[in-house]
Amino acid sequence: MKKEINIAVIGLGYVGLPLFCLLSKYFPCIGIDKDMVRVTQLKDGVDYRECENQHNIKMALQRSLLTSTYSDLTECNVFFVCIPTGIDENKLPELEPLKNVCKSLGEILKRGDIVIFESTVFPGATEELCIPILEKYSMMKVNEDFSVGYSPERINVGDDCHRIVSTPKIISASNIESLNVMRDIYSTILDAPVIEASSIKIAETAKMYENVQRDVLIALANEYADFCKSEGININEVTECAASKWNFAKVYPGLVGGHCIGVDTYYLMKRAKDKKQSLNLVQTARHINEAESKKVATRIKDYAVFINAQRILLLGFSYKANTPDCRNTKVADVYNELKQHCLVVDCFDPLVDTKKVSKDYGISIIHSKEEVQTDYDLVVQLVNHNVFNEMGFADATFIKLKDLL
Ligand SMILES: NC(=O)c1ccc[n+]([C@@H]2O[C@H](COP(=O)([O-])OP(=O)(O)OC[C@H]3O[C@@H](n4cnc5c(N)ncnc54)[C@H](O)[C@@H]3O)[C@@H](O)[C@H]2O)c1
Repeated sequence: MKKEINIAVIGLGYVGLPLFCLLSKYFPCIGIDKDMVRVTQLKDGVDYRECENQHNIKMALQRSLLTSTYSDLTECNVFFVCIPTGIDENKLPELEPLKNVCKSLGEILKRGDIVIFESTVFPGATEELCIPILEKYSMMKVNEDFSVGYSPERINVGDDCHRIVSTPKIISASNIESLNVMRDIYSTILDAPVIEASSIKIAETAKMYENVQRDVLIALANEYADFCKSEGININEVTECAASKWNFAKVYPGLVGGHCIGVDTYYLMKRAKDKKQSLNLVQTARHINEAESKKVATRIKDYAVFINAQRILLLGFSYKANTPDCRNTKVADVYNELKQHCLVVDCFDPLVDTKKVSKDYGISIIHSKEEVQTDYDLVVQLVNHNVFNEMGFADATFIKLKDLL
């Protein structure tokens, strides 16, 4: 174990901010984000993305520093990388953020330092993409001068039951010494077990498998829902019954958005393509889940015609319940599809940042309850935010997404 650990957490988003708050309870810690506005807001205790609760941010700030400047990290010797790994418009991995961080870290890396990646990547990315950049810009050699680790993050946005502290953590490293340091750090901050993978690639591939498995299972649920509909029965009751068996995976049909499940499968598919390895089931699952938005929109449209509804209100815009996170939300697709059919459609979501939605999606969202008009004919709840439970729509027909599938 290194005598003195000085940590830097790079990327203060959904993954990095909670990790920074937790690590700073036990270790000297600096948080860095290239977004200066984000850093300034966090310094004031403001977290519009709601990645972490106010109390934890306040406590962390009493102990630790935040910055946007990599030269502030020169005293640090263990670096946790939590930056985004999204996809571009062609659904290919967007690796620039990861490459940029490796370059910035390479420029400040010292002998004995450890760089631990927590971002989700395709198998082989840490060793084939990240290490060469770190080596190039540090002019040092991995395992001779510095070390690298990989430990995938598994938190679930908006889910208070599965937090960092209570979730088992897979760790892997380029050498045994750095694996030992990782074990010590994660065992210190977590209440959950730390699982050692025998290689970095095993840990990367395990994380991919977790998310791709969910993508495939949801695709199966979506397909099975169509089959149930053709039989005139409801998938939800079928699922409840089937789930009484011990080894049934209880997964419901629905829209697969967000930055993880709807994205990570593309990382795996790209890697498999490069390796000339077919992934037919995975590919089909992705197609099924991508087609779900159009299916949902068609069902809403057909239902609107059936009940002669002219004005439709969609409830929820974020990619899932109880989070303001709108990355890759499929509600946008449903909304745009309905608009194409010249229906009057509004969307109400009190959790999301409406300015950001307008900028990213060109959609104007109703944010306050008071602005919601009362003359809708049809209200469709697409996202199960708890705040919607208290709202009544006496004069409109009200349905939930699950009733459409
Ligand atoms: N959000 C989740 O629930 C979740 C769960 C498991 C894994 N992951 C994975 O964790 C990683 C991070 O995801 P996230 O949701 O926290 O992303 P995020 O977008 O919420 O946060 C990432 C932060 O990194 C910053 N950043 C980007 N480039 C930077 C750079 N060069 N230097 C410093 N900061 C930089 C951004 O400004 C942003 O604030 C991704 O790989 C994601 O797939 C996310």
